[in-house]
Amino acid sequence: MTVEVDVRAGLPAFTIVGLADAAVREARERVRAAILNSGYEFPARRIVASLAPGDVPKMGAALDLALACALLAASGQLPRERLDGHVLFGELALDGEVRPCRGTLAVAQATRQAGLGRLILAGARAHEARLVEGLDVAPAQRLSSAVRVLCGGEADALLARTPDAVGPSEAWPDLSDVRGQHHAVRALVIAAAGGHNCLLSGPPGTGKTMLAQRIGSILPPLSRTEAIEVTRIRSIAGSVAGGLVGERPWRAPHHSITTAGLIGGARRDSIGEVVLAHNGVLFLDELSEFARPVLEALRQPLEDGRVAIVRARHSTIYPARFMLLAATNPCPCGYAGVGERCRCSEAELARHRRRLSGPLLDRIDLLAQLDHDAGDDLGSSAPIGSARARELVTDARERQAARLREDGVTLNAHMNAAVLRRRVTLDERGEAMLRSARERGMLSARGRHRVLRVARTIADLNASGRVRARDLGSAIALRGDAGLAGKRAA
Ligand SMILES: Nc1ncnc2c1ncn2[C@@H]1O[C@H](COP(=O)(O)OP(=O)(O)O)[C@@H](O)[C@H]1O
Ligand SMILES: [Mg+2]
Repeated sequence: MTVEVDVRAGLPAFTIVGLADAAVREARERVRAAILNSGYEFPARRIVASLAPGDVPKMGAALDLALACALLAASGQLPRERLDGHVLFGELALDGEVRPCRGTLAVAQATRQAGLGRLILAGARAHEARLVEGLDVAPAQRLSSAVRVLCGGEADALLARTPDAVGPSEAWPDLSDVRGQHHAVRALVIAAAGGHNCLLSGPPGTGKTMLAQRIGSILPPLSRTEAIEVTRIRSIAGSVAGGLVGERPWRAPHHSITTAGLIGGARRDSIGEVVLAHNGVLFLDELSEFARPVLEALRQPLEDGRVAIVRARHSTIYPARFMLLAATNPCPCGYAGVGERCRCSEAELARHRRRLSGPLLDRIDLLAQLDHDAGDDLGSSAPIGSARARELVTDARERQAARLREDGVTLNAHMNAAVLRRRVTLDERGEAMLRSARERGMLSARGRHRVLRVARTIADLNASGRVRARDLGSAIALRGDAGLAGKRAA
């Protein structure tokens, strides 16, 4: 984004052109006051500021600092060539203070990519900008400090930093709180290990929500690259304290959420839950309560790992690669599969199935089924603690990353058909098993891919180089679409 300012003789006026929104127009007032209150002269001439490119909407007040400095240069109060190679980013208070703005990390990355030398911005965001290696970051608390820096002077001192969060937070509750439900816990560990989307299904009160809330405790910490991506998104969303985010994202929107809330774009710069969940977990509790169009909207991010937000003629792409965890009762009354207890009619069961089937179930690799009985048996032993589970998950992920290094993915869940063909081969027994599942109508072509991905993860958890028939058998039993059978088999 380039700011040009032209000052010439004529009636005193200050005009900004280039698709400026209300906030940019208000910038005129802030820039004028900040310039005067910093002891500079505001030229009583005809001033035209142009923001380029003209067809990109600009929002917020982040251009204030650039506008003010360009104006000072255009009116001879600052040598013009001093602006070369600099990016100025910040809002101005009326008294000339430079205020931090959202999206600092994204701007810092863009500055580096554009090969510009130096970024001048509010001191409060300097730590965030410094996450970009090789970028010269100059904090400026006031307009006058920015001018001093432009003229070759010293930048302001860096403010004391908020410490980086590191590793998974202690705040995650532990998996060992969950009693019984060994199958479901194992399914969750497999899901975490391979990054698979996972559906938790079971009667009310069996621990679905409880289990989902513990996923963060068994996922490995963010890598530095992942952490920078998460920080960049938080920064655009305006919820970063400065420094690197260390926490893997966990988003659990209520089922009343709208499509815009989930995907983004409700307001011009609003970020959706799927983007906030990037590199982390999106948890949809009570899945069947979400509006159908909201669930349909998950298709694109689940498929592509990103979303495009289109506003007017402009579209912005955000990363949205997350692990989907969903929880549901198996039927409206909640007790399908529990003896004769289910009171739902066939029509109600069919409606429940329809709500969840289609685009979503197609993207869910595995099912964690919680039993009514095991949930009752709260006295039974804890299956596994989070620390041990995280070790298993981390080891399995290292194996995947090593195997998939040349395929452009790091997790089994992200293997497409071509990668599957290259990396997952079955022995004869395995092939026969798949054939038979297919012939019994249990497995579609897509279903086959899902089963192969999960089988590969189970083999990784078993530290096995090959996918054996029993890994495959477990994967078939954990098929994600098996959870909504109602009274009949699906
Ligand atoms: N397997 C379990 N082990 C320990 N506590 C459980 C278990 N299942 C349920 N609970 C207890 O019951 C409460 C409700 O469980 P919840 O996870 O909300 O069930 P669901 O989401 O399946 O309806 C939990 O907060 C927990 O106290
Ligand atoms: Mg629940």
